[in-house]
Amino acid sequence: MSNIFKIAILAGDGIGPEVIKQAMKILEKVKQYLNVKIILDEYVVGGAAIDLYGNTLPKKTLYGCEQSNAILFGSVGGPKWDYLPLNKRPEKGALLKIRKYFNLFANLRPSFFYNELSILSPLKEKILKKGFNIMCIRELTGGIYFGQPSGRKKKGINEYAFDTEIYSKFEIERIGHIAFKIALKRKKKICSIDKANVLNTSILWREVLINISKEYKSVKLEFMYIDNAVMQLMKNPSQFDVILCPNLFGDIISDQCAMITGSVGNLPSVSFNQDYFGLYEPSGGSAPDIAGKNIANPIAQILSLSMLIEYSLKEYNISKKINDAIKKVLNRGYRTLDLSTNEINEKIVNTEDMGTLIMESII
Ligand code: IPM
Ligand code: MN
Repeated sequence: MSNIFKIAILAGDGIGPEVIKQAMKILEKVKQYLNVKIILDEYVVGGAAIDLYGNTLPKKTLYGCEQSNAILFGSVGGPKWDYLPLNKRPEKGALLKIRKYFNLFANLRPSFFYNELSILSPLKEKILKKGFNIMCIRELTGGIYFGQPSGRKKKGINEYAFDTEIYSKFEIERIGHIAFKIALKRKKKICSIDKANVLNTSILWREVLINISKEYKSVKLEFMYIDNAVMQLMKNPSQFDVILCPNLFGDIISDQCAMITGSVGNLPSVSFNQDYFGLYEPSGGSAPDIAGKNIANPIAQILSLSMLIEYSLKEYNISKKINDAIKKVLNRGYRTLDLSTNEINEKIVNTEDMGTLIMESII
């Protein structure tokens, strides 16, 4: 690794800027322990870029990302820009474009559970008792999100719209290998989600995975239909370890994985390309309703930074220090509003204070 590591900071919209600011506090604190020199460059993206330049993904931002070693992303989108055509909106015009441009086909969304917050989970205690720690791996640059043709035709009552679910062997193989490699480091089992009783793409998906599973004899590969999977996840999440999904099913089930932990405000993610260039972002959205109020929960953003330190900088110990600091702060009863459990010892804090508390708890 060279001595300089450049991170492109794309705060975006909604709560993005205020939670990124907290992640920066953490980085400022731990950077002395890193064996590279960190250079941060901020770029405008999403609705903020529309307002400034009339374009959700300015060339300068894309170029800046290209020059960096990793991207730390906040969130994009909000009702203010929903009047725009889909392709020009922050979600499709910036986030999906960046994913496709950098070939970030492998999206990892870990969902683990803080005991301190168990009361927030919609699941019953007897289900939670067994705990869970799931790595949801979502194919991110293919499937129905990007398949062509896609569009609308005709007018009046005959008007119709269409999208295409499409997967090549190549695309399934490369995400499959990522999943098997991750499974090797975890509980050595994968549950692949599909709808192979209806969809051709799912049948191919299964065939390809069965084929490459021969290279990973110690990993147990199982398949589950998406409709059954969402039920099983509520009934007994502890049965899952690595969940592997095509793009759309992964979008759905990763939100469910998030919610059963009790809050989407705590879940980070990374999206990699073949060279493990990564974009790190919280799994929750831009939460425009609470933006700018200094009440948002910065934990998912801080954990996204922690993932960057673990995966891109390979400094596992420092990432662990950050994760431990978060646990410590929660354990001491500090909560942002979204995490309020109404316990007697709870202390509600704002975004800034939560960031500072976590920063100060890193030892
Ligand atoms: C996600 C989001 C995005 C997606 C949206 C904002 C386009 O929901 O990252 O899960 O659908 O992929
Ligand atoms: Mn989603």
